[in-house]
Amino acid sequence: MIKGIVYVSKAIVDFNSDDLKKLETFASDCNKQFGITGYLYFEKGFFLQYIEGDDAVVDVLMNNIKQDTRHTVLSYKNTTDIISRKFPAWYMRKLTKSSLIQINMENVLIDYMTDCNKKRSMELNSESVWRMVNKLSGFRKKI
Ligand SMILES: Cc1cc2nc3c(=O)[nH]c(=O)nc-3n(C[C@H](O)[C@H](O)[C@H](O)COP(=O)(O)O)c2cc1C
Repeated sequence: MIKGIVYVSKAIVDFNSDDLKKLETFASDCNKQFGITGYLYFEKGFFLQYIEGDDAVVDVLMNNIKQDTRHTVLSYKNTTDIISRKFPAWYMRKLTKSSLIQINMENVLIDYMTDCNKKRSMELNSESVWRMVNKLSGFRKKI
């Protein structure tokens, strides 16, 4: 069974671009061995990481990550409701702000709102929607 975990953590030590590159290389080498895929985003002292793979292996990795004294995991969500991998070719891809802007957040919002409309069981969480809209307006100021 494939398990996916997404978490946010706060860095305790400083991570410069060299440290991040080293972490990415280390993580992708290990993850390749264990069949784990996902991505790692770092911005202003916070990490957002998504990992997916065999559930037992993902649990072991998440335990290691939680015990890593370089950061503190603030919150995480996991799911086993994954039919196929979302990032099959990324053993641990480090994402930057510019790569994420290209993903176009409006599309994420359109997807979410249309999905909620289609699936009656899924109620649109207005707090999430407004949070995204506000985020977008924040991005706009930087463009
Ligand atoms: C933000 C962050 C993300 C990490 N992501 C991974 C990862 O995807 N894969 C991995 O093997 N180690 C990752 N690590 C390193 C692990 O926390 C841990 O150091 C590593 O699994 C080695 O554990 P061990 O020394 O107990 O073998 C990450 C560490 C941090 C701080």
